Amino acid sequence: MTVLSTERLVLRDWTADPADLARIFDIYSRPEVARWLNAPGLPMTDPAQAAERLATWRERHAGHGGRYGTWAIEVRDTGVVVGTVLLKPLPGRDEGVPTEDIEVGWHLHPDSWGHGYATEAARAVARRELAAGTREVYAVVGPGNAASMAVARRLGMTHVGRRTDWYGGESLETFVLTVDGVGSRTVG
Ligand SMILES: CC(C)(COP(=O)(O)OP(=O)(O)OC[C@H]1O[C@@H](n2cnc3c(N)ncnc32)[C@H](O)[C@@H]1OP(=O)(O)O)[C@@H](O)C(=O)NCCC(=O)NCCS
Repeated sequence: MTVLSTERLVLRDWTADPADLARIFDIYSRPEVARWLNAPGLPMTDPAQAAERLATWRERHAGHGGRYGTWAIEVRDTGVVVGTVLLKPLPGRDEGVPTEDIEVGWHLHPDSWGHGYATEAARAVARRELAAGTREVYAVVGPGNAASMAVARRLGMTHVGRRTDWYGGESLETFVLTVDGVGSRTVG
């Protein structure tokens, strides 16, 4: 199901189609991607883990009514799926408990870095969330992840330093985008 469209991209649900599952595995088995995600089970080592991950995403977002999700980013002209954009409540110091703070995040296959796709996808979902009434959207980045911090800056997010409020108290570079930051609640 299409969630949002941008100039070059379609943001849609990841599916259980073999091509999507193969792409999930190809992205999340890569050390250069997984090293920044600090998530259990990554990097993947077995293609069967792609379906398990998809099931986890579906379960996580089951009650979100389409407002939050972990979505595939597809290039409109080629049909190539370049990665994931996500929007979700940040897990708190107790990782099992989501906070009311909303996170935007991005994970691209290395073959698709350097085209502005992460920025374009994240801008669309963050703007939609701000237009829906959320006052702030956060991005949290592992210290040293310069490419990801550059995405946050390109989005016009403000760097507020390292915070330990989320993901089990991990110290993370924190960026915030506010309604004022994008100029208007109705933009995008
Ligand atoms: C973080 C990550 C998504 C950044 O990828 P990226 O390709 O650098 O980011 P974008 O898709 O926004 O592309 C921006 C780059 O494309 C270039 N670009 C080319 N065409 C562009 C266009 N039309 N519009 C915007 N940028 C464009 C930009 O100049 C920039 O390149 P530069 O950094 O050399 O200046 C990627 O490194 C990644 O997936 N890393 C592993 C997972 C990860 O760390 N996720 C974040 C966890 S917090």
